[in-house]
Amino acid sequence: MSREVLSADKTESDDFEKNIRPQYIKEYIGQTEVKDNIRVFIEAAKIRGEALDHVLLYGPPGLGKTTLAHIIANELEANIKTTTGPALEKSGDLAAVLSTLEPGDVLFIDEIHRIPKFIEEILYPAMEDFSLDIIVGAEGSSRCIKIDLPPFTLVGATTRAGDISSPLRDRFGIVSKLNYYTEEELEEIICRTSRVLAMDIEKNAAKELSARSRKTPRIANRLFKRVRDFAQVEGKPLIDLDVTKKSLKRLKVDIYGLDQIDIEYLEALLDKFNGGPVGVETISASIGEEVSTLEDVVEPYLLQEGFIKRTQRGRVATDKSYKHIKGESV
Ligand SMILES: Nc1ncnc2c1ncn2[C@@H]1O[C@H](COP(=O)(O)OP(=O)(O)OP(=O)(O)O)[C@@H](O)[C@H]1O
Ligand SMILES: [Mg+2]
Repeated sequence: MSREVLSADKTESDDFEKNIRPQYIKEYIGQTEVKDNIRVFIEAAKIRGEALDHVLLYGPPGLGKTTLAHIIANELEANIKTTTGPALEKSGDLAAVLSTLEPGDVLFIDEIHRIPKFIEEILYPAMEDFSLDIIVGAEGSSRCIKIDLPPFTLVGATTRAGDISSPLRDRFGIVSKLNYYTEEELEEIICRTSRVLAMDIEKNAAKELSARSRKTPRIANRLFKRVRDFAQVEGKPLIDLDVTKKSLKRLKVDIYGLDQIDIEYLEALLDKFNGGPVGVETISASIGEEVSTLEDVVEPYLLQEGFIKRTQRGRVATDKSYKHIKGESV
Protein backbone atom coordinates (compact mmCIF):
# COMPACT_ATOMS: atom_id res chain seq x y z
CA MET A 1 0.00 0.00 0.00
CA SER A 2 1.32 3.40 -0.81
CA ARG A 3 2.22 5.80 1.94
CA GLU A 4 0.01 8.36 0.24
CA VAL A 5 -3.15 6.68 1.44
CA LEU A 6 -2.55 6.99 5.12
CA SER A 7 0.45 9.02 5.98
CA ALA A 8 0.60 12.62 6.97
CA ASP A 9 2.42 13.57 3.80
CA LYS A 10 1.36 16.35 1.53
CA THR A 11 -0.07 14.94 -1.65
CA GLU A 12 -3.69 15.84 -1.05
CA SER A 13 -5.38 17.74 -3.85
CA ASP A 14 -5.37 21.48 -3.34
CA ASP A 15 -9.12 21.89 -3.72
CA PHE A 16 -9.89 19.32 -1.09
CA GLU A 17 -7.44 20.96 1.31
CA LYS A 18 -8.80 24.41 0.60
CA ASN A 19 -12.42 23.45 1.19
CA ILE A 20 -11.96 21.66 4.45
CA ARG A 21 -9.30 23.92 5.97
CA PRO A 22 -10.71 26.10 8.76
CA GLN A 23 -10.30 29.82 8.08
CA TYR A 24 -10.88 31.36 11.52
CA ILE A 25 -10.00 30.42 15.11
CA LYS A 26 -13.62 29.56 15.94
CA GLU A 27 -13.58 26.83 13.28
CA TYR A 28 -10.23 25.44 14.43
CA ILE A 29 -11.00 22.45 16.60
CA GLY A 30 -8.90 21.44 19.63
CA GLN A 31 -5.45 22.84 20.60
CA THR A 32 -7.36 24.87 23.20
CA GLU A 33 -4.39 26.29 25.05
CA VAL A 34 -2.55 27.37 21.90
CA LYS A 35 -5.71 28.87 20.47
CA ASP A 36 -6.67 30.75 23.63
CA ASN A 37 -3.23 32.30 23.92
CA ILE A 38 -2.98 33.27 20.28
CA ARG A 39 -6.44 34.80 20.42
CA VAL A 40 -5.30 37.11 23.24
CA PHE A 41 -2.03 38.04 21.53
CA ILE A 42 -3.86 38.87 18.30
CA GLU A 43 -6.40 41.00 20.08
CA ALA A 44 -3.71 42.86 22.02
CA ALA A 45 -1.70 43.53 18.85
CA LYS A 46 -4.85 44.85 17.20
CA ILE A 47 -5.66 47.13 20.14
CA ARG A 48 -2.15 48.56 20.01
CA GLY A 49 -2.18 48.80 16.24
CA GLU A 50 1.08 46.88 16.11
CA ALA A 51 2.21 43.82 14.21
CA LEU A 52 1.75 40.59 16.15
CA ASP A 53 4.96 39.25 17.67
CA HIS A 54 6.68 36.49 15.66
CA VAL A 55 5.14 33.04 16.12
CA LEU A 56 6.85 29.64 15.96
CA LEU A 57 4.55 26.63 15.55
CA TYR A 58 5.98 23.16 15.97
CA GLY A 59 4.72 19.60 16.16
CA PRO A 60 4.29 16.43 14.08
CA PRO A 61 3.01 16.61 10.47
CA GLY A 62 -0.68 17.09 9.79
CA LEU A 63 -1.64 18.62 13.15
CA GLY A 64 -2.58 22.02 11.74
CA LYS A 65 0.48 24.29 11.65
CA THR A 66 -0.08 25.62 8.12
CA THR A 67 -3.78 25.94 8.85
CA LEU A 68 -3.08 27.97 11.97
CA ALA A 69 -0.63 30.24 10.14
CA HIS A 70 -3.37 31.16 7.66
CA ILE A 71 -5.87 31.60 10.46
CA ILE A 72 -3.51 34.03 12.22
CA ALA A 73 -3.34 36.15 9.05
CA ASN A 74 -7.12 36.02 8.62
CA GLU A 75 -7.74 37.01 12.22
CA LEU A 76 -5.27 39.88 11.87
CA GLU A 77 -7.01 40.86 8.62
CA ALA A 78 -3.55 40.84 7.09
CA ASN A 79 -2.06 39.47 3.90
CA ILE A 80 -0.02 36.30 4.09
CA LYS A 81 3.09 35.66 2.02
CA THR A 82 4.30 32.09 2.02
CA THR A 83 7.65 30.46 1.46
CA THR A 84 9.62 27.51 2.80
CA GLY A 85 13.04 27.05 4.36
CA PRO A 86 14.49 25.02 1.47
CA ALA A 87 13.17 27.52 -1.13
CA LEU A 88 15.41 30.22 0.35
CA GLU A 89 18.68 29.32 -1.31
CA LYS A 90 20.30 32.71 -1.90
CA SER A 91 20.26 35.82 0.26
CA GLY A 92 18.43 37.52 -2.62
CA ASP A 93 15.55 35.03 -2.24
CA LEU A 94 14.85 36.20 1.28
CA ALA A 95 15.39 39.87 0.38
CA ALA A 96 12.87 39.48 -2.46
CA VAL A 97 10.22 38.06 -0.13
CA LEU A 98 10.85 40.61 2.62
CA SER A 99 10.73 43.57 0.26
CA THR A 100 7.17 42.71 -0.82
CA LEU A 101 5.84 42.93 2.74
CA GLU A 102 3.36 45.62 3.71
CA PRO A 103 2.82 46.85 7.27
CA GLY A 104 1.22 44.17 9.44
CA ASP A 105 1.63 41.40 6.85
CA VAL A 106 2.27 37.82 7.87
CA LEU A 107 5.29 36.07 6.38
CA PHE A 108 4.86 32.31 6.70
CA ILE A 109 8.02 30.21 6.44
CA ASP A 110 7.23 26.51 6.44
CA GLU A 111 9.97 24.00 7.32
CA ILE A 112 11.85 26.87 8.89
CA HIS A 113 14.47 24.46 10.30
CA ARG A 114 15.76 24.02 6.75
CA ILE A 115 16.82 27.63 6.19
CA PRO A 116 20.52 27.82 5.36
CA LYS A 117 22.55 29.35 8.20
CA PHE A 118 23.75 32.41 6.23
CA ILE A 119 20.17 33.26 5.33
CA GLU A 120 19.10 32.78 8.91
CA GLU A 121 21.55 35.53 9.83
CA ILE A 122 19.81 37.95 7.47
CA LEU A 123 16.57 37.07 9.17
CA TYR A 124 17.78 38.12 12.64
CA PRO A 125 17.82 41.93 12.08
CA ALA A 126 14.70 41.61 9.95
CA MET A 127 12.86 39.99 12.85
CA GLU A 128 14.33 42.16 15.57
CA ASP A 129 14.57 45.65 14.09
CA PHE A 130 12.60 45.27 10.85
CA SER A 131 15.73 46.04 8.91
CA LEU A 132 17.39 44.25 6.07
CA ASP A 133 21.17 44.41 5.77
CA ILE A 134 22.31 43.51 2.31
CA ILE A 135 25.66 43.58 0.62
CA VAL A 136 25.72 45.18 -2.82
CA GLY A 137 28.43 45.68 -5.42
CA ALA A 138 31.24 43.51 -6.68
CA GLU A 139 33.91 42.03 -4.48
CA GLY A 140 36.45 44.70 -3.50
CA SER A 141 33.96 47.54 -3.82
CA SER A 142 31.06 45.92 -2.01
CA ARG A 143 29.22 47.74 0.74
CA CYS A 144 26.49 46.99 3.18
CA ILE A 145 23.23 48.84 2.89
CA LYS A 146 20.41 48.92 5.38
CA ILE A 147 16.82 48.86 4.19
CA ASP A 148 13.92 49.53 6.54
CA LEU A 149 11.15 46.97 6.45
CA PRO A 150 7.57 47.53 7.55
CA PRO A 151 6.60 45.88 10.83
CA PHE A 152 5.51 42.33 10.00
CA THR A 153 4.84 39.03 11.72
CA LEU A 154 6.95 36.03 10.90
CA VAL A 155 5.14 32.74 11.43
CA GLY A 156 7.53 29.80 11.27
CA ALA A 157 6.44 26.17 11.21
CA THR A 158 8.50 23.07 11.78
CA THR A 159 8.20 19.40 12.63
CA ARG A 160 11.68 19.59 14.17
CA ALA A 161 11.92 22.20 16.88
CA GLY A 162 15.19 20.64 18.00
CA ASP A 163 16.84 21.53 14.68
CA ILE A 164 16.21 25.25 15.10
CA SER A 165 19.21 27.19 16.32
CA SER A 166 18.71 28.96 19.61
CA PRO A 167 19.40 32.47 18.22
CA LEU A 168 16.54 31.96 15.76
CA ARG A 169 14.22 30.39 18.28
CA ASP A 170 14.90 33.22 20.77
CA ARG A 171 13.62 35.76 18.27
CA PHE A 172 10.12 34.33 18.33
CA GLY A 173 7.97 36.00 20.98
CA ILE A 174 5.35 33.25 20.79
CA VAL A 175 6.38 29.60 20.64
CA SER A 176 3.54 27.09 20.49
CA LYS A 177 3.62 23.33 20.35
CA LEU A 178 0.74 21.57 18.62
CA ASN A 179 -0.26 18.30 20.25
CA TYR A 180 -1.96 15.17 19.01
CA TYR A 181 -5.76 15.49 19.08
CA THR A 182 -8.16 13.60 21.31
CA GLU A 183 -10.60 11.19 19.69
CA GLU A 184 -13.47 13.53 20.59
CA GLU A 185 -11.75 16.41 18.81
CA LEU A 186 -11.07 14.26 15.76
CA GLU A 187 -14.69 13.22 15.74
CA GLU A 188 -15.65 16.89 15.66
CA ILE A 189 -13.23 17.47 12.78
CA ILE A 190 -14.71 14.51 10.88
CA CYS A 191 -18.23 15.85 11.42
CA ARG A 192 -17.13 19.26 10.19
CA THR A 193 -15.55 17.70 7.09
CA SER A 194 -18.75 15.73 6.52
CA ARG A 195 -20.77 18.98 6.58
CA VAL A 196 -18.32 20.82 4.31
CA LEU A 197 -18.27 17.97 1.77
CA ALA A 198 -22.03 17.37 2.13
CA MET A 199 -21.68 13.65 2.83
CA ASP A 200 -23.38 12.48 6.02
CA ILE A 201 -21.68 10.11 8.41
CA GLU A 202 -23.27 8.13 11.24
CA LYS A 203 -22.04 8.98 14.72
CA ASN A 204 -20.61 5.53 15.41
CA ALA A 205 -18.82 5.57 12.05
CA ALA A 206 -17.28 8.96 12.87
CA LYS A 207 -16.19 7.50 16.22
CA GLU A 208 -14.56 4.54 14.52
CA LEU A 209 -12.74 6.77 12.04
CA SER A 210 -11.49 9.09 14.76
CA ALA A 211 -10.14 6.17 16.77
CA ARG A 212 -8.10 5.08 13.78
CA SER A 213 -6.70 8.38 12.55
CA ARG A 214 -3.40 8.45 14.40
CA LYS A 215 -4.77 11.41 16.38
CA THR A 216 -4.03 13.55 13.32
CA PRO A 217 -6.58 15.73 11.47
CA ARG A 218 -4.92 15.30 8.09
CA ILE A 219 -5.24 11.53 8.38
CA ALA A 220 -8.82 11.78 9.68
CA ASN A 221 -9.76 13.86 6.64
CA ARG A 222 -7.97 11.57 4.27
CA LEU A 223 -9.60 8.45 5.68
CA PHE A 224 -12.96 10.21 5.54
CA LYS A 225 -12.41 10.84 1.86
CA ARG A 226 -11.50 7.22 1.16
CA VAL A 227 -14.42 5.84 3.16
CA ARG A 228 -16.69 8.22 1.26
CA ASP A 229 -15.40 6.62 -1.97
CA PHE A 230 -16.33 3.15 -0.74
CA ALA A 231 -19.76 4.35 0.44
CA GLN A 232 -20.54 6.09 -2.83
CA VAL A 233 -19.47 3.15 -4.95
CA GLU A 234 -21.74 0.94 -2.85
CA GLY A 235 -24.55 3.41 -3.53
CA LYS A 236 -24.96 4.35 0.12
CA PRO A 237 -26.55 7.72 0.87
CA LEU A 238 -24.35 8.13 3.94
CA ILE A 239 -21.28 6.68 5.61
CA ASP A 240 -22.26 4.00 8.11
CA LEU A 241 -20.23 1.85 10.49
CA ASP A 242 -20.34 -1.15 8.21
CA VAL A 243 -18.75 0.56 5.20
CA THR A 244 -16.29 2.34 7.50
CA LYS A 245 -15.02 -0.90 9.00
CA LYS A 246 -14.86 -2.57 5.62
CA SER A 247 -12.91 0.28 4.04
CA LEU A 248 -10.49 0.58 6.94
CA LYS A 249 -9.78 -3.11 6.57
CA ARG A 250 -9.19 -2.66 2.86
CA LEU A 251 -6.92 0.30 3.61
CA LYS A 252 -5.05 -1.81 6.20
CA VAL A 253 -5.50 0.63 9.02
CA ASP A 254 -5.40 -1.35 12.23
CA ILE A 255 -7.36 -0.78 15.44
CA TYR A 256 -4.80 1.68 16.77
CA GLY A 257 -4.67 3.53 13.46
CA LEU A 258 -1.21 2.16 12.74
CA ASP A 259 -0.42 1.91 9.06
CA GLN A 260 1.93 -0.26 7.06
CA ILE A 261 5.10 1.66 7.91
CA ASP A 262 4.30 1.75 11.62
CA ILE A 263 3.79 -1.99 11.55
CA GLU A 264 6.97 -2.62 9.54
CA TYR A 265 8.88 -0.47 12.02
CA LEU A 266 7.53 -2.41 15.01
CA GLU A 267 8.03 -5.79 13.35
CA ALA A 268 11.64 -4.93 12.55
CA LEU A 269 12.24 -3.74 16.10
CA LEU A 270 10.72 -6.91 17.56
CA ASP A 271 11.89 -9.56 15.13
CA LYS A 272 15.21 -8.37 13.78
CA PHE A 273 16.48 -6.51 16.81
CA ASN A 274 14.91 -8.45 19.65
CA GLY A 275 12.95 -5.48 20.86
CA GLY A 276 16.00 -3.21 21.01
CA PRO A 277 17.74 -1.12 22.07
CA VAL A 278 18.59 -0.24 18.49
CA GLY A 279 19.46 3.00 16.71
CA VAL A 280 16.95 4.63 14.37
CA GLU A 281 19.54 4.54 11.55
CA THR A 282 19.67 0.75 11.81
CA ILE A 283 15.87 0.44 11.71
CA SER A 284 15.83 2.84 8.78
CA ALA A 285 18.32 0.73 6.81
CA SER A 286 16.44 -2.42 7.66
CA ILE A 287 13.01 -1.29 6.43
CA GLY A 288 14.17 1.09 3.69
CA GLU A 289 12.58 4.26 5.05
CA GLU A 290 14.36 7.58 5.53
CA VAL A 291 15.57 8.34 9.04
CA SER A 292 13.77 11.69 8.82
CA THR A 293 10.44 9.99 8.01
CA LEU A 294 10.88 7.69 10.96
CA GLU A 295 11.86 10.51 13.29
CA ASP A 296 9.27 13.05 12.14
CA VAL A 297 6.26 10.94 11.27
CA VAL A 298 6.47 7.40 12.61
CA GLU A 299 8.19 7.63 15.99
CA PRO A 300 6.38 10.60 17.55
CA TYR A 301 3.10 8.71 17.38
CA LEU A 302 4.55 5.37 18.50
CA LEU A 303 6.16 7.14 21.45
CA GLN A 304 3.02 9.04 22.32
CA GLU A 305 0.94 5.86 22.26
CA GLY A 306 3.50 3.90 24.27
CA PHE A 307 4.54 1.40 21.58
CA ILE A 308 8.22 2.31 21.87
CA LYS A 309 10.54 4.06 24.29
CA ARG A 310 13.55 6.15 23.50
CA THR A 311 16.61 5.33 25.60
CA GLN A 312 20.21 6.51 25.42
CA ARG A 313 21.16 3.28 23.71
CA GLY A 314 18.39 3.38 21.15
CA ARG A 315 14.74 2.52 20.61
CA VAL A 316 13.11 -0.14 22.75
CA ALA A 317 9.83 -1.96 22.20
CA THR A 318 7.28 -1.92 25.03
CA ASP A 319 4.90 -4.61 26.26
CA LYS A 320 2.16 -2.88 24.34
CA SER A 321 3.89 -3.48 21.02
CA TYR A 322 4.64 -7.13 21.83
CA LYS A 323 1.01 -7.55 22.68
CA HIS A 324 -0.25 -5.76 19.61
CA ILE A 325 2.12 -7.19 17.02
CA LYS A 326 2.65 -10.66 18.44
CA GLY A 327 -0.58 -11.00 20.37
CA GLU A 328 1.41 -11.82 23.48
CA SER A 329 2.52 -10.26 26.74
CA VAL A 330 6.05 -10.40 28.05
N1 LIG B 1 -7.64 22.17 14.44
C1 LIG B 1 -8.15 21.75 13.27
N2 LIG B 1 -9.48 21.76 13.06
C2 LIG B 1 -9.97 21.31 11.90
N3 LIG B 1 -9.21 20.84 10.87
C3 LIG B 1 -7.88 20.83 11.03
C4 LIG B 1 -7.29 21.28 12.23
N4 LIG B 1 -5.95 21.16 12.12
C5 LIG B 1 -5.73 20.65 10.91
N5 LIG B 1 -6.88 20.43 10.25
C6 LIG B 1 -7.00 19.82 8.93
O1 LIG B 1 -5.89 18.97 8.73
C7 LIG B 1 -5.22 19.25 7.52
C8 LIG B 1 -3.74 19.26 7.77
O2 LIG B 1 -3.36 20.40 8.51
P1 LIG B 1 -2.06 21.27 8.14
O3 LIG B 1 -1.77 21.19 6.69
O4 LIG B 1 -2.28 22.63 8.71
O5 LIG B 1 -0.96 20.49 8.97
P2 LIG B 1 0.57 20.87 9.20
O6 LIG B 1 0.79 20.82 10.68
O7 LIG B 1 0.91 22.13 8.51
O8 LIG B 1 1.34 19.65 8.54
P3 LIG B 1 2.86 19.59 7.92
O9 LIG B 1 3.79 19.51 9.09
O10 LIG B 1 2.85 18.31 7.15
O11 LIG B 1 3.04 20.79 7.08
C9 LIG B 1 -5.77 20.60 7.04
O12 LIG B 1 -6.14 20.52 5.71
C10 LIG B 1 -6.99 20.87 7.86
O13 LIG B 1 -8.12 20.69 7.07
MG1 LIG C 1 2.12 22.43 6.84
